[in-house]
Amino acid sequence: MNESWVRSTVRDIPLYYNPKVKAVRMDTSVNVLGPNTVVKDVLARCMDLDLNQYPTPYSDELRAALAEKYGLEADNFVVGNGSDEALDVAFKSFMEPGETVVAPYPSYVLHSFFVKVNGGRFITADLGQGFQLDPDALLDARGKMIILCTPNNPTANCFHHRDVERVVREHDGPVIVDEAYGEFARESFMSRVDEFENLIVTRTFSKAYGLAGFRVGYMASNLKMAGVMQRVKIPYSLDRVSELTAIAALKNTSYVDAAVGLVREERSRLASGLAGLGFKTFPSESNFIMFRSPRPSSDLVRRLAEKGVLIRDFGHLRMLEDCVRTTIGTRELNDMLLLKLKEVTEDWEGSGDR
Ligand SMILES: Cc1ncc(COP(=O)(O)O)c(C=O)c1O
Repeated sequence: MNESWVRSTVRDIPLYYNPKVKAVRMDTSVNVLGPNTVVKDVLARCMDLDLNQYPTPYSDELRAALAEKYGLEADNFVVGNGSDEALDVAFKSFMEPGETVVAPYPSYVLHSFFVKVNGGRFITADLGQGFQLDPDALLDARGKMIILCTPNNPTANCFHHRDVERVVREHDGPVIVDEAYGEFARESFMSRVDEFENLIVTRTFSKAYGLAGFRVGYMASNLKMAGVMQRVKIPYSLDRVSELTAIAALKNTSYVDAAVGLVREERSRLASGLAGLGFKTFPSESNFIMFRSPRPSSDLVRRLAEKGVLIRDFGHLRMLEDCVRTTIGTRELNDMLLLKLKEVTEDWEGSGDR
């Protein structure tokens, strides 16, 4: 292949994080209660479906169920193959190649990926004290679009609602608020999409709903913007089995409530356990927690992986030097994580190296 054939905007895109180690996965912030309890029943029912037929192109039944949940119309929603597809569609719909998208830094690494694969330019505005949003910096950058996620991944804090609202109100262009971890937070913009001319809110079934393996996500916005995005989305991108599972999961509120309750209970216990081992923890309003290691985070993650637990290293990023992120587990998982971390700190002390 001739290198010049590759579109210039995608030449430097690396493969995504794809660890090959066999370990307990505490690196992906999914639901630690296991798959949503509706899965077995729905899959059994799916055996009798006419799966030789296509699903509806725009997942009409799931959009109707979402409309009922949020008190919006089905046409406010665009459903996709994970909220990653929703993000991709939003950029495809509103960003011309060469236009700029502004995002806070540090934040979700795939936001820049979707901008670049769609030919856009991605620029960032550093978060301020306590990893809070700097609305002036985001607005002053004068991009075509702004994207942010709250709770923020990987820092785990929520941005102040009033700051996000100001960005939405004052930016003259589409603003995406990625609420992938919205179920764990106290505030949301989801039910307010009709209030704004420019707001897109994305959510997922991968986290609180325990369906990451099914790849279902959605976004909502006012009817005009949603109508544009619906036309751009690849028809049939969500399969029928995943659609039916997501609909059942929406009704299974006790599972999500249990997940949210567990995180609330375990978060402070895990944080104090980590602090007791000498790690600096950062406040979390999500189902994961970020903490800083006193030794190189790459060494911590490697040693932990050798002991059978995988957490995610962010220590190579500016502002997150030696920081790692772990999912908040069940009591048993957290105890196991703390025990293995304790072993690592003891190994460090024993080896005497820095
Ligand atoms: C902030 C954020 N947005 C979006 C996603 C993508 O989620 P999905 O599984 O719905 O594609 C993730 C997944 O980790 C995430 O952390």
